[in-house]
Amino acid sequence: MDANNYIDFFNELDDNEQTNNFIQSDKRRERFPPRNPKKVPEADLQFLSKQDDSRSNFKFTYKAARFEEWWLLDSLGDFYEHKWIVDVLKRVKGGKEASVYQCKPGVAVDAPFVAAKVYRPRSLRNLKNDGQYREGRTDLNEEGNAIVKADDIYAMQKRSKYGEGLRHQSWIAYEFSTLELLYEAGADVPKPYAMEKNAILMGFVGDYATAAPALSSITLDIDEAEPLFKHVMLNIDIMLAHGRIHGDLSAYNILYWEGDITLIDFPQVVIPESNPASWSIFLRDVTRICQYFSTQGVECDAYKIASDLWASHGHKIIKEVDPKYLDSEKPEDRKIWEKQKKM
Ligand SMILES: Nc1ncnc2c1ncn2[C@@H]1O[C@H](COP(=O)(O)OP(=O)(O)O)[C@@H](O)[C@H]1O
Ligand SMILES: [Mg+2]
Repeated sequence: MDANNYIDFFNELDDNEQTNNFIQSDKRRERFPPRNPKKVPEADLQFLSKQDDSRSNFKFTYKAARFEEWWLLDSLGDFYEHKWIVDVLKRVKGGKEASVYQCKPGVAVDAPFVAAKVYRPRSLRNLKNDGQYREGRTDLNEEGNAIVKADDIYAMQKRSKYGEGLRHQSWIAYEFSTLELLYEAGADVPKPYAMEKNAILMGFVGDYATAAPALSSITLDIDEAEPLFKHVMLNIDIMLAHGRIHGDLSAYNILYWEGDITLIDFPQVVIPESNPASWSIFLRDVTRICQYFSTQGVECDAYKIASDLWASHGHKIIKEVDPKYLDSEKPEDRKIWEKQKKM
């Protein structure tokens, strides 16, 4: 197999990040073969060498490019073996972090479709920027249980290859366990079904032909905008009541389907009590929501809404960030530090 093509496939997914639903890129790749194939790093080769034909029974309708097919067989093979899914139908969206596929579920699932979110191989993901969110979170293992072994914790701190694998796993496990927690709490999130080492399976929002669009691409009627805004706020309230802040909430991570909303994309979820930046992350979430809804005619004061909600759950507004959480190499962090020095 030519591993360079595999890397090119992921690079192409980057290009496709903003494409519409259900666009397959095989034709485009045939027409525009990569000009400068990159050298494959050792870690990627190791990932690739694990690919084999052991899931030979798992054949799917979706016309995946060869390299994508290996990736799907590796990531979704266990779902297939455990009969969670019987087919992969379409790719909904390719992104930098993960791609989402519409799948046909096995008989145990009472729904016509499920969504599989398949993460990039660890070695092709950038885990450097997750520190702000991971702060104060206990890392989780493949089963979603806390990682408590000192050797494992040390490996993650040292950022050894093994430790990076654990961090990748924990990132995915947080997405899944948050869906479990919030679904149980009655929030508007997809129903979580199963997690494997590189993918999660959840309720699909949309129908056969169309995956639900994000709110960001929708213009709402004013009669609809007001109640939907309240609904988003109710969800934020449920999250806070269960000790969670989304951390990347915006109209891009809220799906809209037949008048209802569904919040998605939770790997960076933040725990308010233990993350020193939690107030600013929370305020940013609320601000982004208000920004969208104010373009839809809803009047909202983000700071007031956020501070009232925050206080109603017993949290304090902490504007100052402990310098140990600031990165001196990042200009935006330096600005915060300079400002605090003057206070
Ligand atoms: N449960 C779902 N049902 C239908 N489409 C989904 C679902 N989850 C995600 N998607 C689609 O996949 C896209 C990417 O998913 P998301 O979880 O936001 O990952 P990313 O980290 O790439 O932003 C979403 O914008 C949406 O179009
Ligand atoms: Mg997203």
